[in-house]
Amino acid sequence: ATNRTFTMLKPDSVEKGNIGAILEKITASGFRIVAMKLTHLTTQDAQAFYEVHNERPFYGELVEYMTRGPVVAAILEKDNAVEDFRTLIGATNPADAAEGTIRKLYAASMGENAVHGSDSDDNAAIEGAFHFAGREMF
Ligand code: CMP
Repeated sequence: ATNRTFTMLKPDSVEKGNIGAILEKITASGFRIVAMKLTHLTTQDAQAFYEVHNERPFYGELVEYMTRGPVVAAILEKDNAVEDFRTLIGATNPADAAEGTIRKLYAASMGENAVHGSDSDDNAAIEGAFHFAGREMF
């Protein structure tokens, strides 16, 4: 079924000038852009977004990284969007990511892995609503 996922092109992707190349790969892979903006997460935003990781040793580092510059936030639509987008981005650690995936091509490390993709339909809806009002979705 056609459904939606949520992505962020993380600060390292913006810093390195990789937004265009990554968006090209996303649209060429059949995803339709439903909503998109450049936005800068506050510390509070990043802490809330990654709440599920707050007991993990890398939580502080993750919040620092995600707030050090702007990100591109977007909602994407496609048949089987959540699973297909996770396939397109590749494993969390770029060292383990398959050839041709976004993380293999553009991520530097596990900590700075270029792109976010929702891990379930429920989280896609929650994450999308965190960033966009209904009138910003097309
Ligand atoms: P993502 O899976 O999009 O969301 C959680 C993020 O935490 C993950 O990407 C990484 O950026 C980061 N992360 C996960 N595991 C580690 C780790 N072991 N060390 C540092 N960062 C991590």
